[in-house]
Order: sequence, then C-alpha cells, then structure tokens
Amino acid sequence: MIEKIAKMLGEVEALRAESLDEIEALRIKYLSKKGEITALMADFRNVPADQKKEIGIKINELKNKALEKINALKDEFAVAETGNDDLDITRTAYPVALGTRHPLTIVKNEIIDIFARLGFSLAEGPEVEDDWHVFSSMNFAEDHPARDMQDTFFVEAHPDIILRTHTSSVQSRVMEKQQPPVRVLCPGRVYRNEAISARAHCFFHQVEGLYVDENVSFTDLMQVLLLFSKEMFGEDTQIRMRPSYFPFTEPSAEMDVSCTLCKGKGCAMCKGSGWLEILGCGMVHPQVLEANGIDSTKYKGYAFGMGIERIANLKYQVKDLRLFSENDKRFLEEFEAAN
Ligand code: DAH
Repeated sequence: MIEKIAKMLGEVEALRAESLDEIEALRIKYLSKKGEITALMADFRNVPADQKKEIGIKINELKNKALEKINALKDEFAVAETGNDDLDITRTAYPVALGTRHPLTIVKNEIIDIFARLGFSLAEGPEVEDDWHVFSSMNFAEDHPARDMQDTFFVEAHPDIILRTHTSSVQSRVMEKQQPPVRVLCPGRVYRNEAISARAHCFFHQVEGLYVDENVSFTDLMQVLLLFSKEMFGEDTQIRMRPSYFPFTEPSAEMDVSCTLCKGKGCAMCKGSGWLEILGCGMVHPQVLEANGIDSTKYKGYAFGMGIERIANLKYQVKDLRLFSENDKRFLEEFEAAN
C-alpha cells in the first residue's frame, strides 16, 4: 500500500491538462466517489492496526496534494483564459464604474424640477391608448389629418387602440378623474409613423403641462413659460408667442426662446432669426373641458406641450436625433458631468 501511495503521489505531481474539461476528468479519476484516491481511503479499513498511523498520514498527504494540484491547474487556466497573469486578488472591488443618466432623463428631470417648484405635480398615462383620449376628447374632428394612417400607429386588430401621438392624452386622463384645481406635468414617450432620420424618429418624448382653475389667463401661461425658459436656458432668455392652431386650445400659440447659442443675434442654429421654437401652448378649448367633465363656464385652463429631444438638442447641440436611442456609450458618457 505504501508503494502504491508513493507511485500515485508521483503521478499526481506530474499531472498536466490542456483544458478545463481535462482537469475535470482528472478530478473524477482521482477524487470523485469512485476515484482512485477515494478507493485507497476505503481500503484503509483493511490496513493492519500497527501501520494505520503511518499510512493514514500518507493517504491524507496524497489527497491534499491531488486537491492542491487540481486547483493549481484550474488557476493556471483562468489566467491563460483571461490573459491576465498579474491578477491581483487583494485589490478592492471599488471604484465601481457606474452608468450615467441618459441625456433625455437629465433634461426631463430638469423640466420636472422647475415646474415642481411652481406647484405642478406629476401625472402619467398609457402609451398604448384609445382614440378617445388621444383625439376625440381633445377636440380633434373626425377627419382631422393627425388621425391619418400616416401619422398614427394603429393596433391592427383593434382600430380604436393606437400608440399615443402626443402626451395631450394625459390631460384627458387627468381631467376625467379630477375636478379643478388641476396643475399637472405629464412626461412620456410618444409615437408617430415617420421615417427615421437625423431630424425625425418614430418615437420621441414630450412633456405636457396643464393648469385648470377659476380665472386662469393667457398672461399666467406666459409668465410661467417665461420663468421656465429662464431657468432652463439662462436668466437673459427672452420668449415670444406666435399665433398658431391646435384643436385642443383656443387661442393657440407657438413659443420661441431667444437663441441659446447667439443670444438673439442670429446664427446658423437659429437660421439667422435669433429665435428658436420650443413648444406649443394655449388656453384649453372649452369643448375639451366639457368633453372631460369640467364645467367650462366656471373654469378655464392653459396647456403646453414640448419635445424633450428638442430641448436637449438646444441645450447640448445634438445634431442627430438617432443618437438618443442608439445607446452608443461614447455619446452617453459625454453627459457624465451633467448627472
Ligand atoms: N400636442 C401637441 C403636439 O404634439 C403639443 C401641444 C401644443 C400640447 C399645444 C399642448 C398645447 O398642450 O397646448 O404637437
């Protein structure tokens, strides 16, 4: 038995392996339940009492040696596989490389922050919506072109179910549940059936604002949006309103801010005009209030809606909309400092 142990010890010391599979085969050969060393240990029962001590020590040595050798082979392999021969297992696990917030999230949070200070609370609605909340309750005529197949994604089996084309649907979701005063901000993703290019995408993000109460005026709307623009783009920012049309507001306007790059002097970004369009707004149409269960003789409201990508573009001069959804780490990491 002593000879057998000595022979096996020699064998174990000389073990070599080419792959993790081979190492596993060696472990099975020597150390598994049916392995050779395990068998030796079972034989130990038959060793005469006067030799038990000596042989016991040797078998243990052999077993430990085999374990050590197999682990050493495994380690060699781990190093070979990662090519990392100066692996420092004493190094602490920190600093951990943290991810960065997406630029659209950064801008969204900034917008929410500003309006939260003005008393706006958050509201959300579903992205998969019905025609009523997206169009009918928002005073879109039956034949309004925005309902067209070219703009709206329909769920084929249910023509009434669509992907919302704007966050204005959340206005309706809020008003149908809550009587004035209503003061909400509704951020969310919206979808439009457009060809993807540097300037358009089939989905993007909006923030909707809605304020309904007694005695709400267009001046209130302008004051709130001026304050927002100054907070967002800088104290010296100016705004201007241009008359416009939306089915859900009357009167309606589009709002420009003085160019964030040239401060109104005229440059390539503002195409020489000194102004940049950033949002649509207006006084909530009485028919929208009524359609959503609010008495339009008692209450008035204002609303506005802006694209988050648009604001982010102006803040960070991102030239290609597609960058926002490609998850290229080189792009995303540029916003580390803004987190
Ligand atoms: N829903 C409009 C759009 O998607 C944006 C908008 C304009 C929202 C005027 C409003 C508003 O609340 O009053 O283009």
